[in-house]
Amino acid sequence: MFLIKFEVMKIQIINGPNLNLLGVREKSIYGNTDFESYLTDLRKRYPVVEIDYYQSNVEGEIINKIHEVGFVNDGIVINAGAYTHTSIAIADAIAAIKSPVIEVHISNVYKREEFRHHSMLAASCKGVIAGFGMDSYRLAVENLINP
Ligand code: DQA
Repeated sequence: MFLIKFEVMKIQIINGPNLNLLGVREKSIYGNTDFESYLTDLRKRYPVVEIDYYQSNVEGEIINKIHEVGFVNDGIVINAGAYTHTSIAIADAIAAIKSPVIEVHISNVYKREEFRHHSMLAASCKGVIAGFGMDSYRLAVENLINP
C-alpha cells in the first residue's frame, strides 16, 4: 500500500505593537476592520494554506515567535509596527532564520512622518509591501505562495 502525504503550506503572520487595536485605533489611517475579521476572510481565500496568527506588543516575544517558526514555516509576514523603525534585535532575528520574511505596512509609511521612512528590518526581508491597507497582508501571502 502506498501512502501519499500532502504537506500543507504554513505561513505565519506576526503583528507587533498596537496592532491589536486595529479597527479602534486611528481609523482614518488603519481602517475600521479588526485583524481577526480580516484573518477569517484571508483564510477563506487560501483554504489549503495554514495561516497562523500571532500578535504581541513586546519586542522579545516577537523575537521568540520568529525563532520558533523561522526554521519550520514556509514564510513569515510581519508588521512590526513602530518596532520596524527601531528594532535591530528584530532585524537580527529575521536575518538569523531560514524562512522568507515579508515586511508589511497597512499605511503608506513614505507619505507619513519622516521617522517612518526608515525600516531597520527591510534589508533582512525578502521584500516590503506598504500602503495597500489590510490588502498588504494578502499581497505578501500571495507572494509567499506564488513566488
Ligand atoms: C504601521 C506603520 C508604523 O509606522 C506604525 O508604527 C504602525 C503601523 C502600518 O501598518 O502602517 O504601528 O506598521
